[in-house]
Amino acid sequence: MKAFKVEMQDISIEFPGVKALKGANFITKGGVVHALIGANGAGKSTLMKILSGAYSHWTGNIIIDGNHVNIRSAKEAKDLGIQIVYQEVDVALIPYLTVAENILVDEMVNGMDGRQFINWKSINKKAQEVLGYLNVDIPIKKKAAELTLAEKQMVLIARAIAQKCSLLILDEPTAPLSKSETDELFRVVEELKEKGVGIIFISHRLPEIFTICDNITIMRDGKFITKMRIKDTDEKEVVEHMLGRSLDESYPKYEVEIGEIALQVKNLKDNKMLKGINLDVRKGEIVGIAGLVGAGKTELCKALFGAEPITSGEIILNGKNLSLKDPNHAVEEGIALVPEERRKEGILVEESVMTNLTLGSLESFSKNSFIQFKKEYDRSWEIIKDLGIKTPNESQKVTYLSGGNQQKVAVGKWLIADADVYIFDEPTKGVDVGAKTDIFHLIGNLVSKGKSVIYATCETQEILGISDKIYVMYDGQIVKELITKDTLEDEILFHSAGGNL
Ligand SMILES: Nc1ncnc2c1ncn2[C@@H]1O[C@H](COP(=O)(O)OP(=O)(O)OP(=O)(O)O)[C@@H](O)[C@H]1O
Ligand SMILES: [Mg+2]
Repeated sequence: MKAFKVEMQDISIEFPGVKALKGANFITKGGVVHALIGANGAGKSTLMKILSGAYSHWTGNIIIDGNHVNIRSAKEAKDLGIQIVYQEVDVALIPYLTVAENILVDEMVNGMDGRQFINWKSINKKAQEVLGYLNVDIPIKKKAAELTLAEKQMVLIARAIAQKCSLLILDEPTAPLSKSETDELFRVVEELKEKGVGIIFISHRLPEIFTICDNITIMRDGKFITKMRIKDTDEKEVVEHMLGRSLDESYPKYEVEIGEIALQVKNLKDNKMLKGINLDVRKGEIVGIAGLVGAGKTELCKALFGAEPITSGEIILNGKNLSLKDPNHAVEEGIALVPEERRKEGILVEESVMTNLTLGSLESFSKNSFIQFKKEYDRSWEIIKDLGIKTPNESQKVTYLSGGNQQKVAVGKWLIADADVYIFDEPTKGVDVGAKTDIFHLIGNLVSKGKSVIYATCETQEILGISDKIYVMYDGQIVKELITKDTLEDEILFHSAGGNL
């Protein structure tokens, strides 16, 4: 295999009202794992989309092994061996096709040229081989629509490596993955690297970058900032380059007086995952729900929001027994959820930033059934500023925001709505380190006002940093209750792995 040296020089691209890249540079080569880092909206995905042929209207030069290449379509990039796993996992698969068909979709389409039939046997066999190589166990005949987010991500990775691959771009591949799935992915990355494949790795989880990357390029505001060898730098320096400032306090903890019980859950069951959940959340309290991917955290959050049917048990809010019919009902009763699959459940990507932010609370902007535009506008801008949502204006469609900025909109929506209990399901997934701290401040502000917060995540550090009390889930049950200030990370990990069963 040739060296496969890729150079992007002076790359610029503009979208209506947004200069996404302003003369960015990037260099990498085969046999190297190269991290691409930057705050939400810095231009990482856009730069990689250009390299993989998603846009045709960029300017600048792309040089591969000394030759200028003119990549203006996905096919041109693929023919050069450039494969990408997009950040938008939920929309990158064709929902009604099977896992095998999704993995080999390009082969199927190309194989159809001039022929009328597809060799299903070979498609299924090849798909099985790639999944076997990735060491994941997903039935190849399952429809993509039925997969979990983590499974979808693995199918996308399988699709990328099933094709001619000299350069593999992974745009936040680990965000939905469990620890063991991430480890498997890293093993595959190492193996591909050994074979001389170049890998570009985008992630907001700095420890991952220091685990598997050799080099790092940092971007800020559409431009190249610096390139370093990983072994010559550390997390603090990387954060300073990416934010243009240092980050003093990662986990701000507000001093809040904890009041009486607001939400009480008794023996909650559904017919899939939840096996009798008991918990309580007080006013002013941040309750962490810890547990691995698949432990039932998301199911619990959804059940408390009326988004999943329950078969038995009680949800009592401020002394009132609720039988939640649906999420609208939950909102009326004072419960808000920032869901994990935000693009699917939390936001309307074809609507504007302002519409998304205010839709959940239009009543508070109406007077005699007229919307008070000024009030809606002002409140939207408060949230855009508080969360640092990067958007040219309030009427930008959410689909045009970067991944992390879409997440911020989903969080912001509920900060506008006035609820008693705020449930966050993995709210910092895909959010840069600076914005994470902004979210923690907002959560701190909520509890200071006497609100209650349920914070579900697999990021144990975050739970330890901001919660008062922790419930650890394993296999649809709460296996341990811990007081945060007396808890060490190892204890959470021990119980998350079903340690005491
Ligand atoms: N199709 C588009 N139309 C309009 N603006 C866009 C489009 N694609 C990207 N942008 C804007 O370009 C900027 C860079 O976005 P990009 O998605 O590259 O950021 P990113 O570094 O990948 O961020 P994140 O970490 O949040 O994924 C953002 O301000 C984004 O809103
Ligand atoms: Mg991105």
